Amino acid sequence: MIREACLLVICSLTHELALGNPQNPVDTFLGSIGTPGYKFSVGDGANFARLVASGPPSQRLSIGGFGSPSAQIQAQGETPVQPSFSNPPPPLGSGRDPATQTCGTAPPFCTRTRYRTIDGSCNNLVRPTWGVPQTPYGRLVPFNYGDGISSWPVATSGQPLPNPRELSLRLFPDKQLVDQVWNLNAQQWGQIITHDMSLTAGVAQTHCSPANATCMKMHKDQLTCCDDNGRLTPDASSNPTCAPILIPPNDPVHSRIGTQCMNFVRTGNTRTRGCTPLNAPAQPISTVTAYMDLSLVYGSSASQARPIRSFQGGRLLTVLRGGREWPPQDPNITLTCESAQSPNEPCYLTGDIRVNQNPQLTVLQIILMREHNRIADTLTNLNPHWDDETIFQEARRIHIAEFQHINYYEYLPIFLGYENMVKNKLIYPGIKGYVNDYNPNVDPSVLDEHATAAFRHFHTLIRGYLRLISEARSLLGTVRLSDWFNRPLLLELSTAFDDLARGLTVQAQDFSDQFWDSEITQFLFKRNNTFGGDLRATDIQRGRDHGLGSYVTTRAACGLPVPKSFADLLDFISEENVQVLQSMYQSVLDVEVVVAGSLEHNVPGAQAGPTFLCILTEQFYRTRVGDRFFYENGADRDIAFTPSQLEAIRHGSSMARILCDNADGIQAMQPRAFEQINGGNRLVSCEQLPFIDLTLWQESSDFFKK
Ligand code: HEM
Repeated sequence: MIREACLLVICSLTHELALGNPQNPVDTFLGSIGTPGYKFSVGDGANFARLVASGPPSQRLSIGGFGSPSAQIQAQGETPVQPSFSNPPPPLGSGRDPATQTCGTAPPFCTRTRYRTIDGSCNNLVRPTWGVPQTPYGRLVPFNYGDGISSWPVATSGQPLPNPRELSLRLFPDKQLVDQVWNLNAQQWGQIITHDMSLTAGVAQTHCSPANATCMKMHKDQLTCCDDNGRLTPDASSNPTCAPILIPPNDPVHSRIGTQCMNFVRTGNTRTRGCTPLNAPAQPISTVTAYMDLSLVYGSSASQARPIRSFQGGRLLTVLRGGREWPPQDPNITLTCESAQSPNEPCYLTGDIRVNQNPQLTVLQIILMREHNRIADTLTNLNPHWDDETIFQEARRIHIAEFQHINYYEYLPIFLGYENMVKNKLIYPGIKGYVNDYNPNVDPSVLDEHATAAFRHFHTLIRGYLRLISEARSLLGTVRLSDWFNRPLLLELSTAFDDLARGLTVQAQDFSDQFWDSEITQFLFKRNNTFGGDLRATDIQRGRDHGLGSYVTTRAACGLPVPKSFADLLDFISEENVQVLQSMYQSVLDVEVVVAGSLEHNVPGAQAGPTFLCILTEQFYRTRVGDRFFYENGADRDIAFTPSQLEAIRHGSSMARILCDNADGIQAMQPRAFEQINGGNRLVSCEQLPFIDLTLWQESSDFFKK
């Protein structure tokens, strides 16, 4: 019973710890699961039970859905067993009913359609607003605001928490330790998944340079708490939405040049929007669909989707330049591409406003846009009688399935651990036929602990200098990341698009550790200045802004051992780092999850420590099981792929093939495109890579026969 009350993986870890292996528990974490090396079973649990009994009660919501025997795959046609669910909703009509707390909207009645709505509404037919834009993030741990409602969190003593910039400088310095196996494509695809799933409300990702009078005039409503010269603005003290990061006096970079602050604007929430009762905690809002539905390509609303569709042949709108297809121009270039030097430079408009943020992100967004059009063109050839809307929706549906398959079977195992994913029923390797694990009681909302803490940990993987690589895989040049933030012009220069795409697959990603590249801690969005922002300090500040629960409560929620002193942190964190934590925080209860989660030793086989791994695993379980349209789901024949189409998607979807098919002229790629080229992963000609057989979507075949 106790064992089922927490994540299976986490219980296994707790179990190991309880049985006297405290020196390096993470070494045995994944290794102990379901493998011959697994040393203990529930029956061994005298010590385990003692540990659980002596710790405080877990504050985690029931997550019985995770790996529980009731969450079974059901063969097609069987009556679904009602699995225990991952995130039990409050009873309808109760004050906590999400429908009364949300700011998002859904139509008054849902009609069953073959296709996802653009905003994700009615994916859940009983809770039609689940996962739609403008709704709150989900949450594992209760809010931790200063006043329990929305004010800035403080230490248990009532004193301020440590300065975020100081934490960044002390604990997350620059040290170039690169990954021996995984490449920059693995890092970059993570940002693609992030941008599909969440976007904090009201936080401008770019802003006008004060030198740009036109932009300033057009966007005078944009809140600035700390200006471009690093000076506090009048709003900083008067506007409650301002929470600028203050520069500590000993800052090695910014104190020398007299910077006072870094800009930080609080996320829009249910209180600022008037959706929450007076005494209820503010719930930060996300403005894109939570579903893994390629909303970054298609948009999260009809008004975002319209200007990027061509309404011909089911295609997304493109602009032809130099014989190549690019996304349409964003009319708001002064704001969106703040670093552009002229209004004639390219600045792209896609389903996501962050598309221009960095060159490699933009490369992958364009690859995905072209992949949609490639599928649409093939469907048009196969079914010339289909109208634009049918081709668009069928291409979108196939494309999302391909994306989900790559994410779950190729990308996520690298970060969450293959065995962990199998054990917790996130993937079903080798399965034939459907996996009918959709559970309408699982809320697919993106957890705040995921978006604001765990998934952001992978900012550690970022490299500050990007390599341009030729078809022969030799180095053509290198560009500095901070020279090209919000300036996508680079991609259209000569062969840079393909050279950057190859660079993604050749260059190593940074190791998943506590070391961050200074391009994002000293030079983020620097524009024409010498220095810029600090993404690590921003992440820490955002965690406070959202009132994330502490590191200790998050561990408790995950069913991990609950530290009572700084010494207890040594189970997952090195002595050196614990000493720094102790010197900066007054109490272990004050230690923040964003900070300490990133200091944990990685679980073997995964790229995060136990606490973040718990959150990531829970998130991607919910993302899968809470999505009625998940591509492996066959319970509803009107929306399911046919068995042969499903097999074609499983067989032919790969990161390598997507890059090959949609770059300008890449001829060869290694089959596992998130992995560096090596003896077991050599370059092969693109034609040799498996592909999705789209002829299975020809209407004369078994397209509509289920
Ligand atoms: C060069 C690459 C990247 C840059 C410059 C970047 C920058 C940023 C910035 C500026 C924010 C908003 C910070 C705030 O105001 O709170 C953000 C948010 C975030 N980033 Fe990154 N990022 C990059 C790559 C990644 C990667 C590789 C991942 C994960 C694998 C990731 C995950 C996230 C997540 C989860 C959020 C929060 C999203 C939300 O809910 O709004 N980022 N990033």
